[in-house]
Amino acid sequence: MPRGLVMVAMVGIVTLAVTSGCALFEDEKTAKGRKLYRHYCMHCHGETGQQAEGFNWERMPDPRPRDLSETAAMSTFSDEEIFNTISRDMRDTALQEVLDDENYFAVSTMPTFKYTLSEEELWAIVSYVRTLHGGALEFDVEGRRAQLESEFQAAKAEHDQARTVMDEALAKQEAEESARAAAEEDAEDDDDEDVEDEDEDIEEDIEEDDEEEEILLPEEEAYERASEKFEAAQTAWENFSKRPKMSQIRRPDLTAGEERQKLGEEGKRLYYDTYGCNGCHSIGDSGGLVGPALDRAGFRLNDTWVYRWIRYPQGMKKHTRMPNLGINDHDARAVVAYLDTLRAPKPDKPIPPLE
Ligand code: HEC
Ligand code: HEC
Repeated sequence: MPRGLVMVAMVGIVTLAVTSGCALFEDEKTAKGRKLYRHYCMHCHGETGQQAEGFNWERMPDPRPRDLSETAAMSTFSDEEIFNTISRDMRDTALQEVLDDENYFAVSTMPTFKYTLSEEELWAIVSYVRTLHGGALEFDVEGRRAQLESEFQAAKAEHDQARTVMDEALAKQEAEESARAAAEEDAEDDDDEDVEDEDEDIEEDIEEDDEEEEILLPEEEAYERASEKFEAAQTAWENFSKRPKMSQIRRPDLTAGEERQKLGEEGKRLYYDTYGCNGCHSIGDSGGLVGPALDRAGFRLNDTWVYRWIRYPQGMKKHTRMPNLGINDHDARAVVAYLDTLRAPKPDKPIPPLE
């Protein structure tokens, strides 16, 4: 092949690779992000980020997913902004204050992945999203890893130190108390006659003890603070490389508590305005097609099962496409009460054609 042609071919391949986010020159992180994107994002955003490409796009309520391949618009977002969009807490988008919050992405039908994926995985996805519009991740992920690790180490050292100080303070207090008790005993030995009085004294002491609040030593308070900080740093560090894990969701008692109907109405609002369940599930003719239709959820599904499912889908099916949306106990009860009201009749069976 003449040299000129080889050059043209090479330029062609490079251009193709850059413009289509082709796997040819992808680094490991971006490749990982591509896989995750295909599993968790593609149904709404399309394989190359273009509109109307994902099978769910047409069915989405407004605003439908924007074009992630559009360089001009997408390059105005920083890496951190994209990260925050895919890793936020869901909030009630019917509230004006939420819509007005400039730092919050207030579209309920764009789910969060904060409770489903590790931080490293989220950055890998951002890295892949960048390639969809010919960009590249600039955020220093390794730096972030190092920062979280050193914060964790520092919090651990502080925590260990606070424990030593607290242990010493407690030992000192105990020694002082037993010295005082010994001294009192000596004094009592001196007058044996007051036995009756003494019994009364003891009873009074016990009553007082019951009422008295437990007073913590300042060293104990400092230790509690250090423990909290340590736990937070540990979780952040662990969530960097591991997916968030919850303990098994217990079976709730769904009969008790608030009035069922009121709870169901609240659940409906949460379903649409906070958690955007309608982005993936349909009721009647509207709503997404990523998950099963929920028209007949009230007939088909068991409340306790639904409660446990929506609070922690990954606990029941590890690789499900339904993300954990960070739903708390109260909200889950309300959504369950709403789903229980969905009792559409069975679709009519088609009339068999006449012979
Ligand atoms: C249920 C459908 C759905 C899924 C799944 C989904 N998105 Fe979205 N996404 C939306 C909607 C709706 C919007 C809001 C309209 C818009 O701005 O694009 C959006 C917006 C965005 C935006 C634009 C944010 C901005 O500031 O305008 C980014 C980036 C994005 N999504 C990335 C992702 C990634 C990455 C994933 C997978 C981890 C994902 N989305 C999964 C529906 C979805
Ligand atoms: C990003 C899309 C997505 C979002 C958002 C979403 N789901 Fe799902 N959901 C799914 C998928 C996919 C399944 C099928 C699960 C599987 O088998 O892996 C599912 C399954 C379910 C099921 C079981 C249905 C059945 O017939 O077995 C229920 C109930 C459910 N989701 C309720 C909800 C509720 C309530 C919300 C909002 C709080 C919600 N989902 C948000 C995608 C989603």
